Amino acid sequence: MTQVIIASQLDEDYNDVIRQRLAAHHPQAQVIGVPVGVPSDLPPQANILLLRPINVRGYSAPDTPPPGWPYGAEWVHLVSSGIDFYPQWLFSGPPVTTSRGSAADNLAEFALAAIFAASKHLPDIWVKNAQWSFTPLRPLKGTTLGILGFGAIGERLAHKALALGINVVALRQSAAPFGVEGVQAAKDIHDLFARADHLVLAAPLTEATRHIVDRDVLGSAKPGLHLINIARGGLVDQEALVEALDNGQVGLASLDVTEPEPLPDGHPLYTHPRVRLSPHTSAISTHSRHEIADAFLANLERYVAGLELANLANG
Ligand SMILES: NC(=O)c1ccc[n+]([C@@H]2O[C@H](COP(=O)([O-])OP(=O)(O)OC[C@H]3O[C@@H](n4cnc5c(N)ncnc54)[C@H](OP(=O)(O)O)[C@@H]3O)[C@@H](O)[C@H]2O)c1
Repeated sequence: MTQVIIASQLDEDYNDVIRQRLAAHHPQAQVIGVPVGVPSDLPPQANILLLRPINVRGYSAPDTPPPGWPYGAEWVHLVSSGIDFYPQWLFSGPPVTTSRGSAADNLAEFALAAIFAASKHLPDIWVKNAQWSFTPLRPLKGTTLGILGFGAIGERLAHKALALGINVVALRQSAAPFGVEGVQAAKDIHDLFARADHLVLAAPLTEATRHIVDRDVLGSAKPGLHLINIARGGLVDQEALVEALDNGQVGLASLDVTEPEPLPDGHPLYTHPRVRLSPHTSAISTHSRHEIADAFLANLERYVAGLELANLANG
């Protein structure tokens, strides 16, 4: 029987959910809580690592792994979808998998919430006294949503938007079909920005996508575009964005992610009248501990059965 001893950087209430779920099918399994950050001095008996993002909030891990890495680990599972928050050396050892898709519905819903808030003037229309006036609210039906990146998030968002009568135009890296009936393909990123009323960034941050939304691309935007970033702040050249907001090329930016995070006090994006900023919260839900457990435990069953792991980030 395959040993299941997990060293986990998750909070204990998250670990408890995993323990409870393991109890039925893997009563011998153990979940040992370990500190967050660069994994070091891990219990040697742990063959599975459950890791949280490392290079966050201004911290940057050393370029080389700690002595003894990867300890007894045969498989490393990341609680995030993106892999940009981890040092390179993490991917040159045992198989590394991500939680890709585990929060895709939450992220898609958040993007739609930003679109609803903008179109329906929320929360500004709530009244607090008898001075009622009527604001014409913009319909969503018949508008065009652009989606940059068509993976787990893009696909969930497209389904929901199409159900609302929104036209969906998308761009992905590969020539793979979108697999969602009704999604139109943009010719390129300029075409995507020119056609969209609302545009959601749902691509990973890589060398190729850093500042993919630059001055040139923003110059192609349909005037008054609503840009929504729920992916990574580094996708956007923020200086160019502020310029585009100032000159009205971009009418509104709903940003759940920025670079750096958090932005320093006094940063212009905090106070710009055309910016709505949230603190990288779009994926976090009241069900996160179950969503993270679902993704991990589904892969654990593959691991125990000797099958190929899903959502591999290396190998
Ligand atoms: N705010 C949060 O807390 C949060 C939570 C989850 C994820 N995220 C971010 O969102 C990103 C996307 O998540 P996901 O789960 O949807 O990832 P995913 O399933 O891996 O999909 C990524 C998509 O981006 C596309 N892509 C890659 N490079 C591109 C490029 N240069 N131009 C256009 N499209 C490109 C890929 O195209 P192909 O399919 O054609 O290769 C793929 O469709 C993650 O990498 C992460 O950074 C943020």
